[in-house]
Amino acid sequence: MTQKPLMAANWKMHLSIREAVNFVARLHEAVGTPDDREVLIAPPFTHLWALREAMGAAGYSLAAQNCHWEEKGAFTGEISLPMLQEVGCTYVILGHSERRHIFGESDEWVGLKTAAAFAHGMSPILCVGEKLEEREAGRTEAVLLRQLETGLARVPSERIEKLVVAYEPVWAIGTGKTASPEQAQEAHAFIRGWLAERFQKEIAKNIRILYGGSVKPDNVDALMAQPDIDGALVGGASLDVASFGRIVRFQ
Ligand code: G3P
Repeated sequence: MTQKPLMAANWKMHLSIREAVNFVARLHEAVGTPDDREVLIAPPFTHLWALREAMGAAGYSLAAQNCHWEEKGAFTGEISLPMLQEVGCTYVILGHSERRHIFGESDEWVGLKTAAAFAHGMSPILCVGEKLEEREAGRTEAVLLRQLETGLARVPSERIEKLVVAYEPVWAIGTGKTASPEQAQEAHAFIRGWLAERFQKEIAKNIRILYGGSVKPDNVDALMAQPDIDGALVGGASLDVASFGRIVRFQ
């Protein structure tokens, strides 16, 4: 892995703008600007503009939690990639399980969004992961395969190094049940193997694959010690400066 580990906060629909600005200042006091890892925050859309300057000054990256694949048009309630770039986003989270399972986002839509993100020079954080019943039925790899194949169907090979994949087993999200480091490593190795076949082996080595699902200060070190885990996508524990700061400083 030549890229830095990516330690990402997905704030989902939490925090006010004031709290968010304060959080970034306190996080910077706590962890500074590490040069051996990348820090990213994905706040709600309404907070992006207000965070842009402080995030840039701290050397942190800014992500959106979703986007539409069209640049503009009659899409009430949607937001486009150029709009996100205008407020400083360089990453966009796509296909999060809450989008897929609460809002009915299809694999096909995720694929359109991923291709659009590449076309605009942004880094998609493509989320994949199985539900509990799918894991119990031995279908974890089949689900990952379907989500990867459709999610990346329209992506040209030459741009692929900007891709980030997040493996988030649905049963581990917000439940306090983390995948064991071995379970996570197994899924990550499968994903990297697929990327190596679909794109080039050398490139697949450098695509960051994040783990997400109840990452906490007390399990981050063991997860990050796995060879195919290149970062974390953190929900609940990213809302507290001390917890997220400790996660950023994994050892
Ligand atoms: O995207 C991060 C996420 O879904 C995991 O959430 O609360 O289990 O860390 P959480």
